[in-house]
Amino acid sequence: MPENELSALESLLKSREFLYHINLDRKTADLVFDGRTLKALYELMGRKSIDYIDFPISSGKESVVFKAFSKGKPVVIKVYKLSTLRFANIWKYIEGDYRFSRERIDRSNIVNIWAKKEFTNLKLLKKYGIPCPQPIAFHKNLLMMSYVGTKIAPAPMIKNVKVDFKVIYDQVVENLETMYQKAKLVHADMSEYNLLYHRGKAYFVDLGQAVARDHPAADYFLERDIRNVVRFFSSKGVKCTYEELLERVRGKPPAE
Ligand SMILES: Nc1ncnc2c1ncn2[C@@H]1O[C@H](COP(=O)(O)OP(=O)(O)OP(=O)(O)O)[C@@H](O)[C@H]1O
Ligand SMILES: [Mg+2]
Repeated sequence: MPENELSALESLLKSREFLYHINLDRKTADLVFDGRTLKALYELMGRKSIDYIDFPISSGKESVVFKAFSKGKPVVIKVYKLSTLRFANIWKYIEGDYRFSRERIDRSNIVNIWAKKEFTNLKLLKKYGIPCPQPIAFHKNLLMMSYVGTKIAPAPMIKNVKVDFKVIYDQVVENLETMYQKAKLVHADMSEYNLLYHRGKAYFVDLGQAVARDHPAADYFLERDIRNVVRFFSSKGVKCTYEELLERVRGKPPAE
């Protein structure tokens, strides 16, 4: 690294200037921004012309999602926490997914593969026109994607909005069908927490754990997803059943 960059990194590390701006409590900040993550962030900021990190949109168990600005436009940076991302929890979504079978996976790099996996899955969804954030880049434990929301606020989860849920249900069903039959993916964490409502559409988010359809546990994940979708939309008065939705998403079995 050239000397001027090294000193810029050092000053970023020392001052944590951007952290004052985003008003993250000290404990969370220390957990998220360990030295390795700060270095990765610094590299990504340079590579992708990120002007500054704005504020945390969400701070969860395994990741913190920030709004940031790149060339004056809002973007999102998802930071997978190195401190709490549990190997055993995510391993089962990587092992068995043939797309990652050639990767050398160990404790030190699994989180990087996780970021790459979410990036790859988002790309695939976009390819088939499913509403989701546009993936922009991944670097180590960071994922950069487009921001879903307005100037005023990030898009809310569908559990927190009042809309015509029948319309949204139909959309979600169509997108689940496309996702399974064309993108050949199973979300594996589908629920009202991972669907954002924006400009009349339900956006799929949180694609890290999504697996290829021929993952050995894909059926189990799909059935769990379908159960969650039916549970949520039924609670909103939409008439739907588990059997009917599962059949629709799976589509016709191939001819013998
Ligand atoms: N591109 C985006 N634009 C706007 N908001 C987003 C975007 N991506 C994520 N979010 C917000 O951040 C929240 C957390 O993101 P996500 O679901 O991807 O992380 P997560 O893996 O569930 O994190 P954890 O389970 O550790 O909380 C989402 O529920 C959503 O509110
Ligand atoms: Mg989530």
